[in-house]
Amino acid sequence: SHPLRLGIAGLGTVGVGVIKIVMQHGDLLRARSGRDMTITAVSARSKSKDRGVDLSSFAWEDDPVALATRDDVDVYVELMGGEDGPALASVKAALNAGKHVVTANKAMLAIHGQELAELAESKGVNLRFEAAVAGGIPIIKSLTESLAGNKITRVMGVMNGTCNYILTRMETAGLPYDEVFEEANQLGYLEADPNLDVGGIDAAHKLVLLSSIAYGTQVDFASAQLQGIQRISIVDIKHAAEMGYRIKLLGVSQMTDAGLMQTMRPCLVPALSPLGLLEGGTNMVIVEGDSVGQVVLRGAGAGEGPTASAVFGDVMDIARGINIPVFGIPALQLAKSTPADSSGE
Ligand code: NAP
Ligand code: HSE
Repeated sequence: SHPLRLGIAGLGTVGVGVIKIVMQHGDLLRARSGRDMTITAVSARSKSKDRGVDLSSFAWEDDPVALATRDDVDVYVELMGGEDGPALASVKAALNAGKHVVTANKAMLAIHGQELAELAESKGVNLRFEAAVAGGIPIIKSLTESLAGNKITRVMGVMNGTCNYILTRMETAGLPYDEVFEEANQLGYLEADPNLDVGGIDAAHKLVLLSSIAYGTQVDFASAQLQGIQRISIVDIKHAAEMGYRIKLLGVSQMTDAGLMQTMRPCLVPALSPLGLLEGGTNMVIVEGDSVGQVVLRGAGAGEGPTASAVFGDVMDIARGINIPVFGIPALQLAKSTPADSSGE
């Protein structure tokens, strides 16, 4: 078969990480997928920016939609970000053109994921997004594959590294929120809109994607209950510590008799529990299944290498011809509503 041909839109932190994997691990990828892999074309806002990688052998497209629909692209890799705009337009164009899509864009998927998943399903192509939730942690593959024999009873975790960094620094350095927020800003940790991080929105985007996969329900960001970390004070953190607890921005998703419950808010966790011991920018996702019991996954939730690693896990599946339905699609008819309103009332 011909090489799997990638088109990559977005050459920032993650896009450059993906290009490095193709350049550095070509032999490994071929051995593992049985197929060569090439990047045929790329896109970003600035063509002239030095990105520390050689782009000269790739075609350049100014317009991500043009990239996504090129004849010589089999897999469109969307790494620009943004809830809609060019990310959404190009992903839709790629799916409509029958291309597989891999994206790390949780903001887009949390709002438009259901529609995109249905489009992908109707075209018989993959829409894959391992990197969108908890960076390098293989939580989506775990839920869709390794834990597929379980009824999932709960998914929870710390899914925003920036908030965990801020809370950890406030505690360990005894610094107030505003000072640590500024430190995180200087270190480049914050999203372009910092409220996505500290308001709990980014973490909730991730949680609602996991809910959908875990319970086979439609992606439902609107019902998630959100509270950020902006009002956590040093005094709160000290009081928690005196009682043997730490404060974490914790997401919990649970299917209850009253329907799906999704919350993202600062919570007290026992200091010596796995969640309590989670430091800095690290993420942790805990899954509970009726057969497996509790599974704890911990790792880097962001950064060039970890996020590109997750993107590539998806690309490798496509190279191997694996097509896994996403979100509530396999149970679409059942999943139109949660148990709370499925009685027809
Ligand atoms: P980034 O460093 O800000 O890079 C974004 C890239 O997209 C840049 O190369 C930019 O071009 C390009 N871009 C933006 N608007 C564009 C447009 N209209 N047309 C063409 N190109 C455009 O972002 P990132 O950190 O790599 O994140 C990419 C995606 O991965 C986002 O969805 C993000 O949420 C997700 N993600 C990131 C991480 C992480 O650790 N960074 C972790 C998990 C998920 P220029 O370079 O020319 O400006
Ligand atoms: N802003 C996100 C975080 C990036 O801090 O976890 C990775 O999704």
